[in-house]
Amino acid sequence: MASELLGGRVILHAGDCLDVMATLPENSIDACVTDGPYLLPSIAARFGQADAAAAQGRVYQGAFAGFTGNPEIVSDICTRVETWRQVLRVLKPGGHLLAFGPASIGFSRMHCAIVDAGFEDRGLVDWIYATGFPKGKPLDKHLDRKLLGEVCDADELARGPVSHAAAFYASRDIALKPAKEPIVMARKPLVGTVAENLLAWGTGSIEIDGCRINGEGYPTNVLLDGSAVVADAFPRDDQGRTPARFFFSAKADAHDRAGSDHPTVKPLSLIQYLVRMVTTPGQVVLDPFAGSGTTGEAAWREGRHAVLVEINPKFVTAIERRMSLCLAGPEERKREAIKAKVVDQPFEAGSLFAGL
Ligand SMILES: C[S@@+](CC[C@H](N)C(=O)[O-])C[C@H]1O[C@@H](n2cnc3c(N)ncnc32)[C@H](O)[C@@H]1O
Repeated sequence: MASELLGGRVILHAGDCLDVMATLPENSIDACVTDGPYLLPSIAARFGQADAAAAQGRVYQGAFAGFTGNPEIVSDICTRVETWRQVLRVLKPGGHLLAFGPASIGFSRMHCAIVDAGFEDRGLVDWIYATGFPKGKPLDKHLDRKLLGEVCDADELARGPVSHAAAFYASRDIALKPAKEPIVMARKPLVGTVAENLLAWGTGSIEIDGCRINGEGYPTNVLLDGSAVVADAFPRDDQGRTPARFFFSAKADAHDRAGSDHPTVKPLSLIQYLVRMVTTPGQVVLDPFAGSGTTGEAAWREGRHAVLVEINPKFVTAIERRMSLCLAGPEERKREAIKAKVVDQPFEAGSLFAGL
């Protein structure tokens, strides 16, 4: 079932993107900008790839649904070649794909699936930020519980480390703090040369002038969150200014969410920048994993069209609401955010999946 939003500029399909994409004509879409659901590879290894999504559902449904209300967020669909084959089929030759990964876990499997589907690999764009949470777990507590759980009470263990092993490993963890989100950049193979493809299909190039920062420099494959911590990690210019040549986008805030309680909303400015980069005005961008509809709003704001697909009926309703808010002023958006009691914190799945 599809609905036309924002005067037909955004087409929203409710359903599984594999089914929906199968109904879209070949070579009909100019670009795909998307951010698919998470994968937990250890679950995939344990249950087999085919059953991974169902197994993830079984194992995590309780915790995850309680946390997000949305078990579909955990799925192996982004690591399956067939998913990207469908995206490839509907894209025009030379059409770009920008795909955020299933966090750091499973990202390389997604990247391989995209290339195996027939896309030309155009490298990675990295979005670097300071606000990621460490995904590890306190090893000393786990060791103490394992060694002394039956002889010490909870208060004593909480004061730990108690055992020698816990003290020895107290300074260690099992993962680094995430500070970047990689985005796969890929392109459907051209037909002929770039010039021939551009003339035939209008795709195959990326926007440079419109993506220059303050009209200067060349757009880079590094995007920053605008925080001082990240900026300080980059060289300053002759006048000691922060790295102004990079595009800045902080993690999504209440304004980006516009009242949605979706747990993994991407910042609007970031998606707008990416949509602008890989399309020209009036072109069509596909997001098979629409979530709160950020790509739809970004495309509309950039004078493009969007085709969105979302499987979760709750989010489908939220996208419809969000698209109607596009025409509202900033005050109304703000009121919606407050009404929904949106906590101005980015979603992090780390602690839930720690140690898997
Ligand atoms: C990471 S979220 C996307 C968030 C989005 N970028 C935003 O800014 O709101 C992934 C979305 O894909 C949806 N999804 C998962 N499997 C799907 C499928 N097979 N077809 C369509 N949507 C799916 C989930 O319900 C979830 O809302």
